[in-house]
Amino acid sequence: MLACIPVTLIVFKIRRYLLHCEFVRRHGCQPAVRANKDLLLGLDQMLPLVRAVGEHKVLETLREAYHRYGNTYSTKRILSPGIFTTEPANIKTILSVNFEDYSLGHRTRHFEPLLGRGIFDTDGDDWAMSRALIRPSFTRNQVADLTSFEDLIPDLFALIPRDGETVVDLQDLFFRYTMDSATAFLFGQSVGSLRMDQSDLSFAPAFNYSLEVIAMNLILGPFSIFNRDRKAQECNRICREFAERFVEDAVQAARPEKEIPETKRESYIFSHELARRTSDKQRIRDELMNVLLAGRDTTASLLSNMFFMLAKYPAIWDKLRREVVSLDGRLPTYEELRNLKYLRCCMNESLRLHPVVPLNERLAVKDTVLPLGGGKDGLSPVFVAKGTQVAYNVYAMHRRTDFYGPDAEEFRPERWEDGQLKPRWEYLPFNGGPRICIGQQYALTEVGYVTVRMAQEFRTLESRDPGPWEESLNLTLCSRNGTKVCLTPA
Ligand code: HEM
Repeated sequence: MLACIPVTLIVFKIRRYLLHCEFVRRHGCQPAVRANKDLLLGLDQMLPLVRAVGEHKVLETLREAYHRYGNTYSTKRILSPGIFTTEPANIKTILSVNFEDYSLGHRTRHFEPLLGRGIFDTDGDDWAMSRALIRPSFTRNQVADLTSFEDLIPDLFALIPRDGETVVDLQDLFFRYTMDSATAFLFGQSVGSLRMDQSDLSFAPAFNYSLEVIAMNLILGPFSIFNRDRKAQECNRICREFAERFVEDAVQAARPEKEIPETKRESYIFSHELARRTSDKQRIRDELMNVLLAGRDTTASLLSNMFFMLAKYPAIWDKLRREVVSLDGRLPTYEELRNLKYLRCCMNESLRLHPVVPLNERLAVKDTVLPLGGGKDGLSPVFVAKGTQVAYNVYAMHRRTDFYGPDAEEFRPERWEDGQLKPRWEYLPFNGGPRICIGQQYALTEVGYVTVRMAQEFRTLESRDPGPWEESLNLTLCSRNGTKVCLTPA
């Protein structure tokens, strides 16, 4: 009986091989350039990356690999086959055209201890249900409500020195600002991290620690099973219990006798809206955690990266301030914010040069094909076997000179100014296809609002970081040295 097992395995392998050959022939696929010399484990590609983590140069190391092997190449990671691409047509195929052929892969496992199961860490029908539940909460009305952003501005300004000499790290303040705004939006109550001494807080540090551990586990990949971190378990518990308190309030507020027309509600509370659509308390809690994770660090990172560059280029800051002068010192409305064209150029340019989600990947759940990358010229389709991890690199794509010109590595908001630059899949800060970021408008509104208020309040913004921007790559991409600046009042 036991003797049959190897025979069955061999027959299975041969059958699979023949099916692959037929699939490859039918789609005209050619092999992609193979990056590895170590064909079994792929250590020759992994070790430089491990070194790059220590040197904070992961993104540049990966970008150099594209220069060496081309815009799509195949590689091994331990025993798993992988394809790396920075080709817009391939990314469109993964995220949109052949969306059904891919899943999120191993990511879900790492996020679940903190997030439970929600929109950000599920696939298939579970994800579709989450998306349907959450989508109505991001209509124009909710995004256009700027009062909650303004409510936190005095707390932010109170922490910014105005003598032009004292150095402040805006990155730290922006992460606290977005923690406060996200918790106000999601739970109806800000955790007040801008106001309190950091040691008084339990939720915010616990949430930050949990995210660090998730980021580490994502890097460790299969080795993460050895990373048993008791503190992380405790932090996950603190975060989930914190969210549960608000779930109870939300369910009470959603009882039919408490139903209030949307126009009469004082301010929008995401958890209350969810509770109107489902009474499943665990689901509400998990979705709250999912949206908090997806929305908080991303928005803070965009603010931090953009202000790092604005502080390095006083002429750009001055030009931005001249545009904001059109408001005559008034608080901007949603429509006015949208009409500030140069502000939009600065946000676009920051997201191009320092995309907040610079690397991403999907796992092929069936045999499939990418349109480009095969053959010597890289123009033939490439076969993607079921179980292959396909990694796409937005950072490298956003710096391709064939899309953005010879100055692609420079921070130049003007490139967006005349409206001629209209990249489609070549520009992907918010992803694309059915899983496109649900909070894109919300994030751009928040970042735009904070930037306008800073430009109204402060005349000079000067960098106090002698070096260039360096990567800090956790779940999102921000500046390793923070955003150290000095400011003077308007
Ligand atoms: C500058 C800020 C932001 C950037 C650059 C950004 C970027 C992204 C990206 C790249 C994804 C795709 C992730 C993937 O599928 O692997 C994503 C998904 C998502 N984002 Fe954002 N995001 C931002 C802000 C926000 C905000 C403020 C919210 C909510 C308040 C939000 C909610 C979400 C959600 C719920 C998803 C998952 C969508 C799905 O899988 O269906 N994001 N975001």
